[in-house]
Amino acid sequence: MHESSLKYLKCPRCSISLELEKLLEYTEIEEGFLHCKKCKLVFPIISKIPILWDDFSNYISSRKVLSGRLYRLATTKNMKHFLKSFFSNIKFKEDRTHIENRWTKIYQNSRKSKFYSTINKHIHSLPPSKLGVEYGCSIGIITSQMSKNCNYVFGIDRSFSALEEAKKSNKKNTDYVIADTFSNIFGKLNFELVVALNVLEIMEPEPLLKKISHQISNGTVIISDPYDFDRGVNSVKNPVDEKSIRQLMRNLGFKMTSKTKTSSSIPWNLKLHSRATLNYKVDLIIGRKSD
Ligand SMILES: C[S@@+](CC[C@H](N)C(=O)[O-])C[C@H]1O[C@@H](n2cnc3c(N)ncnc32)[C@H](O)[C@@H]1O
Ligand SMILES: [Zn+2]
Repeated sequence: MHESSLKYLKCPRCSISLELEKLLEYTEIEEGFLHCKKCKLVFPIISKIPILWDDFSNYISSRKVLSGRLYRLATTKNMKHFLKSFFSNIKFKEDRTHIENRWTKIYQNSRKSKFYSTINKHIHSLPPSKLGVEYGCSIGIITSQMSKNCNYVFGIDRSFSALEEAKKSNKKNTDYVIADTFSNIFGKLNFELVVALNVLEIMEPEPLLKKISHQISNGTVIISDPYDFDRGVNSVKNPVDEKSIRQLMRNLGFKMTSKTKTSSSIPWNLKLHSRATLNYKVDLIIGRKSD
């Protein structure tokens, strides 16, 4: 974590500023804690990645394999001690680590999909932004491109292995944070560029768009999705389609760019393994709001 990120990050529970305790620092904070003095919450920073999950025990309870990895990654006595005493009280549930690791590899193998170069072209055609954020950034393919257009940019995801990969791009104006998109880790901060790609099946669309709308008073939102909502018990409650998402965005005060007023079908190919590729066609919507 860059120390310069501290001024933007807030406690996910109460939204006040956090205090940084450094345990190990080279060019950035390798290991440390973020403290909320009000909630008495402690958020660890391990391998440069802050885990700003409201309830760290809840995060870890579905990631037993990750808990072992975090312990091995920790290098300072303080961090090892913190993790050991923390993990000893956790009742572990079904493990998500393997599925998150698997998807990290799939995104690594799919970097060359035309989808990402198409999004990059759109980002580079925008006026420069001060602050940008990508929700559900995974390995940061797009976040790292946003850093060329933004003074400072954050990538947010819940997958630790994805952010470990994202962190490899090592840019001074880019940081990655483990957080739930719906938690309020930025308080009342305004962004000029917000990106959320292919996440509407796992993040309830209307609350997500409302959250993004609150964060933009003068700026651009880029959304894409294949509308692949049939996920059984894991489906979101209120899916959207090409028409309803545009209507929702208009209701929130966004104007769609002329190229994205109507739906599109951009190929998004995910290489599952050497013998299988998932071929989606995604719709792209770019909305602008000005004050
Ligand atoms: C389908 S992937 C899309 C990845 C990337 N946006 C892309 O298009 O290549 C969804 C990503 O969102 C993350 N994610 C899902 N729910 C989340 C949440 N509530 N908060 C933060 N990240 C979340 C997942 O870990 C995953 O990396
Ligand atoms: Zn707090």
